Amino acid sequence: MRLFLDTANIEHIRHGVSLGVITGVTTNPSLISKEGKVDYKRHVQEICSLVPGPVSTEVLSQEASGMVAEAREVASWATNVVVKIPASLQGIEATWRLSREKIKVNFTLCFSINQALLAAAAGAAFVSPFVGRLDDIGEDGMALVREIVEVYKNYPDAIKTEVIAASIRHPQHCIEAARASAHIATIPYQVLLQMIQHPLTDIGIRRFLQDWRQVMGEDKM
Ligand code: G3P
Repeated sequence: MRLFLDTANIEHIRHGVSLGVITGVTTNPSLISKEGKVDYKRHVQEICSLVPGPVSTEVLSQEASGMVAEAREVASWATNVVVKIPASLQGIEATWRLSREKIKVNFTLCFSINQALLAAAAGAAFVSPFVGRLDDIGEDGMALVREIVEVYKNYPDAIKTEVIAASIRHPQHCIEAARASAHIATIPYQVLLQMIQHPLTDIGIRRFLQDWRQVMGEDKM
């Protein structure tokens, strides 16, 4: 499972990429707004220059033609831009039109298998089921990821759409996303930091150092 960062924060992206484990970024209007009143184009271009893989950024239009026009514009900003299109009827039409122009779409705000089937039929490069938001209303968000992967696997020749487990809230979600065979999990920076943490690792590192110093003093290897 590949890992993307779900943020528009430049420092967090810089750090994640420097660790070598982050290969893409996903943003949305809420995440961009968290960075203050930025120059949107320059901000997206800066993220694209830092990240080796796809950078998703979302359209604001509600109707297909507006989505397509916005998507064409943002897709011209960098070669690794992916356009996020919401899971509506208008979004399906826009996705189909954009995929014919070879503009990559991340079909977002996906909350059902049928939405994911339509995303694939329209030629979306990615689909983003929102795990945490389904959990928030008492449903099993990860079951949706699992089921989308399962139905896509029934059509390996026809469906190339990759499943991004999105709206990830905690490290356990990462484990569950991998067990559900999600192609990608897009994770908040905090969750990335939490993934590496284990108290026994910290204790182990301290103990190794103590044992070494007791015998060797401050000598290095
Ligand atoms: O990738 C989608 C994500 O940004 C939504 O997350 O936590 O707002 O549900 P959240």
